[in-house]
Amino acid sequence: MSSVHVDHGQWSSRLAFILAATGSAVGLGNIWKFPYIMGENGGGAFVLVYLLCILGIGIPVMMAEVLIGRRGRQSPGNSVKALAIEAGANINWSIVGWLGVIAGFLILSFYSVIAGWAVSYIFEAGSGAFVDASPAEIESIFNNLLQDPIKLIIWTTFVLVLTGIIVGKGLKMGLEKAVSIAMPAMLVLLLIIAGYAAFNGDFTRTIDFMFTPDFSKLTYSGVLIALGHAFFTLSLASGAMMIYGAYLPQKTSIAQSVVAIAIADTLIALIAGLAIYPIVFGNGLEASQGPGLVFVSLPIAFGQMWGGTVFGTLFFIMLGFAAFTSAIAMVESAVAWLVEKMEYSRAKAAAFAVITLWLFSMLTVFSFTGAEWAKLDFNFVGKHVTNYFDLIDHLTADVLLPLGGLATAIFVAWIMKKEAVFEEMNMSAKLFSVWFITLKWFTPIAVLFVFLNLIGIVKIGQ
Ligand code: PHE
Repeated sequence: MSSVHVDHGQWSSRLAFILAATGSAVGLGNIWKFPYIMGENGGGAFVLVYLLCILGIGIPVMMAEVLIGRRGRQSPGNSVKALAIEAGANINWSIVGWLGVIAGFLILSFYSVIAGWAVSYIFEAGSGAFVDASPAEIESIFNNLLQDPIKLIIWTTFVLVLTGIIVGKGLKMGLEKAVSIAMPAMLVLLLIIAGYAAFNGDFTRTIDFMFTPDFSKLTYSGVLIALGHAFFTLSLASGAMMIYGAYLPQKTSIAQSVVAIAIADTLIALIAGLAIYPIVFGNGLEASQGPGLVFVSLPIAFGQMWGGTVFGTLFFIMLGFAAFTSAIAMVESAVAWLVEKMEYSRAKAAAFAVITLWLFSMLTVFSFTGAEWAKLDFNFVGKHVTNYFDLIDHLTADVLLPLGGLATAIFVAWIMKKEAVFEEMNMSAKLFSVWFITLKWFTPIAVLFVFLNLIGIVKIGQ
């Protein structure tokens, strides 16, 4: 596979990288997904495992990914290939990069649909539809959206076209600005909602639910979901951090940037939980109701609170922004590859990617509308999947991302030359050792253990 060496350019500063990478990390994963999978997996114990996964696996792998990107300076597959050649290893290691590009692509096929819900809710909130509505009425607004294929297709198309246009233009132009406004605004709004929820919902029960671990409620599949979500929420093993690393100036400290990004991402997820659960418990909603949780709970609060129409509209605008800055990161690596390999212009590469994604996104759209042809019924790696959305979500978050993370850890800690890794990390020898040993031993063993346990090869515990 020969491809031309393209100079993709660099971020204008370290802050630009941090903003873009945080924009990629913070998204629907924090605000839509984390709260509902926490509800499905019993709360506290799940949260604890998730936090441990971020710390012991997510952060070390993120450092490894950014390192691969920066040293390779190309799309993930080609970067890993270049580093394999540098290390005198087999060029098939490039699969480590490719797995990510494929996972990012598959994730966006359903992410664009959920982002479409967020965009459509800007208008629902803005029209005052939630004002004084009962929880049942608010649930039916959500169910009506899910049952309307035309609406779903229109909003998904909107999301994908806009993503394509931004990526086609080159991400540095709009992205830095969008993130530097949207992220702080998002945080402020979440804090306002959490403050409202604390006083008007069941806050005590929320704190107990989120922070008192009850291990009897945690299953092995819950542990795998927590692990997979640590990857998902940090945008790991999906091309994003490698390609953003490829645009990182040489002098920037990878470790410091990565830790800052992970902290911001984790805080936003926890605050989202604190904003949502008091309302869930206070209104008798089902914590384990699944993907609709945020789209039902928050509108109830917006319907009751002072200024709810304005806060609600702003909130969904910010959620839309957060989703876009993540969507952009998911296609960027595929687009960079098309530019390298096919010598397409960015615009043509982005159009090509988005059209293919649109076709894939229909699998998710019709999973939610309940179309017969989108229904599935089989067990796949520890989960019973019922439709294409289920399958793609589980295949990416719980299978491809952990395996991709494992492969990345092995490649950087076992295949690359340690001197090259040290040179690129540019950090104190002590901290380097801590990171390197974690990546070399702890990360692979932990991921393998969880994974093998789930598919039944190792059996410990329940
Ligand atoms: N981290 C994003 C979120 O939490 C999702 C994402 C996954 C973004 C993979 C880029 C790549 O919403």
